[in-house]
Amino acid sequence: MTAAERVAHEFSDLFGTEPEGVWAAPGRVNVIGEHTDYNGGYVLPVALPHTTRAAVARRNDGLVALGSMQHPEKAVEIALAELRPGHPEGWAGYPAGVVVGLRDRLAGGVSILVDTDVPVGAGLSSSAALTCSVALALGDLAAPELRRQDLVELARGAENDFVGAPTGILDQSASLLCTAEHALFLDTRERTSEQVPFALAAVGLALLVIDSGTTHDHAEGGYGDRRRECEAAADRLGVALLREVDDVAGLAVLADGTPEGDVLLRRARHVVTEDARVLEVVAALREDADPRAIGPVLTAGHASLRDDFDVSIPLLDACVEAALAAGAHGARMVGGGFGGSAIALVEADAVDAVTAAVATRFEREGHPAPRIFVTVPSAGARRLA
Ligand code: GLA
Repeated sequence: MTAAERVAHEFSDLFGTEPEGVWAAPGRVNVIGEHTDYNGGYVLPVALPHTTRAAVARRNDGLVALGSMQHPEKAVEIALAELRPGHPEGWAGYPAGVVVGLRDRLAGGVSILVDTDVPVGAGLSSSAALTCSVALALGDLAAPELRRQDLVELARGAENDFVGAPTGILDQSASLLCTAEHALFLDTRERTSEQVPFALAAVGLALLVIDSGTTHDHAEGGYGDRRRECEAAADRLGVALLREVDDVAGLAVLADGTPEGDVLLRRARHVVTEDARVLEVVAALREDADPRAIGPVLTAGHASLRDDFDVSIPLLDACVEAALAAGAHGARMVGGGFGGSAIALVEADAVDAVTAAVATRFEREGHPAPRIFVTVPSAGARRLA
């Protein structure tokens, strides 16, 4: 049975009717360009082969029924008219937020069952896979005039306005716009994008994902603090977005001798140098340079997230150190930080050695074994059935 058949079959059992279709949307890892999206900067994600599948059918009783094959006990049924932030809460808030965004088109209600193999809480955008699979489904069924870019906004709105997670558009763009064997170079201010060739296997390379097993939650904590610090830095610099600063020399005015000034300087320096790193990596890949050349740029991105942006944790630093010591060309934490995953760019024939080195480091430090896998840049969201 295919993944699409499995969720369609379960849908029929649960709701007593056939779904109108099945849609899939992937998780992502970002090659470079972290915490730049809400500063109007550049990002370069790839889609994972891991997806969330949504089986969907419209109803005619005004109810919204939401089920997850991972949490059968957490199924939700609620009147469309009663959806509002916090109702429903938990996982169901994500698909509900997308439904709300198209409420006028779904007056009869809708049934949604999802199934996923995207690791949750691992910094691999399981939430975007969920919202984007539902956004694509509801767009196809009820709002076919919406373009992929509109669906990005719909999915982001669900997270920002309904769930209350203040994310940028990196994850939703990756899930909806990526293509196989390419990284997506996205200018988050202009909303323009380009598919950059990133077929690593052809040149004997592999991209390892190392899930540290430490989860994170963007709806609270440090992520929102970083956004506010970036806004404060932009404010002091007299620009709308840190993206507008293209030389670190221009940040010197932030260092006013106070601890707060030092923090704002470091936050802004990460964003400005990270934008430059994205452009450097994109230029290398466009020019058909050996992708090994981007390794040190990834590692420099990690140092910046660790030292200037303060979003790494010792376990992610350990992943990066162990991977580099075992011969990786470059390695960095990915996603929002405070937990989640790291990536490492390695020779295909060094995958086992790097995997073993990272696993040994975890064991030595007394941490549960990390989940490590090779990923390939995969297709963005699509209809399966
Ligand atoms: C999370 C957010 C994204 C982005 C990254 C950091 O994944 O959802 O919008 O800000 O963190 O690059």
